[in-house]
Amino acid sequence: MSAKKIGVIGSGLIGRSFAMLFASAGYKVVIFDIEPAQTRAAKEDIREQLASLEKNGLLKGSLSRQQQFDNISTTENLEECVKNAFFIQECVPERLDIKRKVWAQVDKLVGDDVILSSSTSALLPSAISEGLTHKNRFIISHPTNPPFYCPAIEVVPAGWTDPDVIEKTFTVLKESGLVPVLIKKEVPGFVLNRIQYAIIGECYRLIKDGVVSPEDCDTIMSQGLGLRYAFMGPWETGYLNAEGMLSYGERYADMILDIQKSFGPPERIEGPTLQAIHASMERLAGPVQDIQKRRQWRDKRLIALAKLKRDLDAEDQAGK
Ligand SMILES: NC(=O)c1ccc[n+]([C@@H]2O[C@H](COP(=O)([O-])OP(=O)(O)OC[C@H]3O[C@@H](n4cnc5c(N)ncnc54)[C@H](O)[C@@H]3O)[C@@H](O)[C@H]2O)c1
Ligand SMILES: *[C@@H]1O[C@H](CO)[C@@H](O)[C@H](O)[C@H]1NC(C)=O
Repeated sequence: MSAKKIGVIGSGLIGRSFAMLFASAGYKVVIFDIEPAQTRAAKEDIREQLASLEKNGLLKGSLSRQQQFDNISTTENLEECVKNAFFIQECVPERLDIKRKVWAQVDKLVGDDVILSSSTSALLPSAISEGLTHKNRFIISHPTNPPFYCPAIEVVPAGWTDPDVIEKTFTVLKESGLVPVLIKKEVPGFVLNRIQYAIIGECYRLIKDGVVSPEDCDTIMSQGLGLRYAFMGPWETGYLNAEGMLSYGERYADMILDIQKSFGPPERIEGPTLQAIHASMERLAGPVQDIQKRRQWRDKRLIALAKLKRDLDAEDQAGK
């Protein structure tokens, strides 16, 4: 059974999600956290989340909710977490010093075949792993939050990562219901956040320049671009908006270039513009003290969207 165990280090938001995803694929998951209270809270939270997934018909895999829950255990001992695991997913806070410290400890406890995977959103794989004996087994698996409903996950190897680590990581993530994407070079922000920050940068400039209000800017995404982006990317959008990509280029390349040239240099989001955006979002999404309510509103929509996509994909499969 040892080949089927996964160790999860850190039992916050992301560690809990990974534990559930791995358990849904039939793996035995052992979670470790330096805060024993966190692991206890994690177990309770996972119980509730699995119940809600079952209620919504979104439980992944073929095991029952109880079987998935029973395959997740917690420990207050790092060695117990990583012992005999073939795959380790680290989900500790986003700080290079903490990540390095944790991985240095794990490095001493594992054999040569184990896969060492980090959830980092922005730290580069070479920076975290350069001092490790097993740095050739290191990789980043950066999920999209919340991973249960946003399955895309960026897989970022370092230059020294063994090819079989990439391949096996893809297998584990796919089995767990995720959609891995290979990031072929280490660049800051990987791909998801580079795209996200390009959008934020331009939206900020448009508001600062008085072109659009923050609410209307969000409406352009939520009632416009975002509807298509829920099931296809900018390239397929362009392909379908013309007679294929080359025709799209012929028609729009000059205009795209001219507009891109008018974008201007990046600006720090701060000051009166940021305050104005905050005030707008208070009107749109409610005051910060009630933010939990609006998060539930968001999650309800994400769940419905996940269901819709699953049903439509199943229809496509059946039609093939
Ligand atoms: N939250 C997101 O939206 C999101 C999305 C993708 C990736 N990530 C990445 O996932 C990682 C974890 O983020 P999170 O949101 O779950 O954070 P979190 O703060 O919710 O959880 C971190 C957990 O790590 C524990 N911890 C701290 N030091 C530790 C140590 N030395 N050993 C073991 N456990 C330790 C903490 O007690 C806490 O339970 C970060 O690198 C983050 O950038 C987060
Ligand atoms: C997870 O639980 C199920 C049912 O309880 C079991 O059949 C399966 O083997 C378990 N996975 C592991 C790795 O033990």
